[in-house]
Amino acid sequence: MEFKLNEDQWAVKEAARDFAQNELKPGVIERDSSMAYPTEQVKAMGELGFMGMLVDPKYGGSGMDNISYALVMEELSKVDNSCSVIVSVQNSLVCWGLQEFGNEEQKQKYLPRLASGEWIGAFCLSEPEAGSDATMQRTTAEDKGDHYLLNGTKNWITSGGTSKVHLVIAQTDKEKGHRGINAFIVETSWDGVDVGAKEDKLGIRSSDTHTIMYSNVKVPKENRIGEDGFGFKFAMKVLAGGRIGIASQALGIAAGSYELSVEYAKQREAFGKPIAQHQAIAFKIARMATDIEASRMLVYRAAWLKDNHMDYLMASAMAKLAASDAAMKHSVEAVQIHGGYGFVKEYHVERLMRDAKITQIYEGTSEVQQIVISRSVLKGQLEVPTTK
Ligand code: CAA
Repeated sequence: MEFKLNEDQWAVKEAARDFAQNELKPGVIERDSSMAYPTEQVKAMGELGFMGMLVDPKYGGSGMDNISYALVMEELSKVDNSCSVIVSVQNSLVCWGLQEFGNEEQKQKYLPRLASGEWIGAFCLSEPEAGSDATMQRTTAEDKGDHYLLNGTKNWITSGGTSKVHLVIAQTDKEKGHRGINAFIVETSWDGVDVGAKEDKLGIRSSDTHTIMYSNVKVPKENRIGEDGFGFKFAMKVLAGGRIGIASQALGIAAGSYELSVEYAKQREAFGKPIAQHQAIAFKIARMATDIEASRMLVYRAAWLKDNHMDYLMASAMAKLAASDAAMKHSVEAVQIHGGYGFVKEYHVERLMRDAKITQIYEGTSEVQQIVISRSVLKGQLEVPTTK
């Protein structure tokens, strides 16, 4: 058992930390207020190789491992969760989904532009009436011989307004239930793809979340991903990896809240000494440190299992469940430690508290994670399997 990052992993963590602290932090409060999309920052993350971290260099990616990806997500998320959710969806849902399940032609056509960040991708599964119950797809893709005709509405789509490529999940044969669902690569420049208004959200406010409407969109047959009927399993497999990205984001929110709290508690004085010297605050800090380390172990282990081609379904669900709870709990504690200062934007913790909530909701709510975990346990998997 090895608990040490290698040199490459340390280097990428440092690079992400420097970028987040020096390039993301200065404008993050303004972007959060105005909901301005972080165009320049996304471009810079593309130049740093953060938009195609898991993509093989032969398709223009950085060819990093999942641990490095988690480290980058954690550092970005200490500061700017609008940027980090864009990175997470791009890497673990869109790029990894295409690389793992797309055919050679699809990979060559789409991955280079996605991995460089030139094109942003979106993952279009959720619908007005299909959130947690993802099999209830109302979007249809009718087989018309040489193409499918796509019709329907997708909700809460991250990068909905800026994306050039969508991975769309749609029902092709209602009679077959989840086995009649397919996944398609759809270019947003095609006729019939319409973007609804930008959502005004509690947190991650400068990421662009939209409703997307598809009306008679002609999708070429060659843009279906995998065998006929593979779409639901595609979504489930991709989301199992995506949960490592969101767990890392939640870890970053918890760790960012903690780092700001420690710094503040050491310099802010009350009753004649720094507040960190008061047990009420010192014990909060001890709890934060412990919960964050526990989440970090779960997140890194899930990433390690994925890197080693081992079963990570239960591990990624546990990592997301624990880290998102830690993010929520400790971002609230961070505001409490900062007192009145914590309630104003300048001190950053109120934004982290608002950003934390979505990590318990997207890419599978905490309740969905508990479905995944308990089903694994009841099938006989009493602990996360760590043998092949
Ligand atoms: N890998 C492979 N196959 C899987 C699988 C997995 N991880 N999970 C399920 N399946 C298969 C099952 O084996 C089954 O296939 P068979 O019938 O052939 O055996 C089929 O899929 C149906 O599985 P279930 O019966 O388990 O399905 P269910 O209806 O009970 O749902 C669920 C299970 C876990 C609740 C699932 O619906 C789910 O994950 N829901 C949450 C969806 C979600 O995460 N949405 C997030 C939206 S994306 C987003 O947020 C992105 C963003 O922009 C940030």
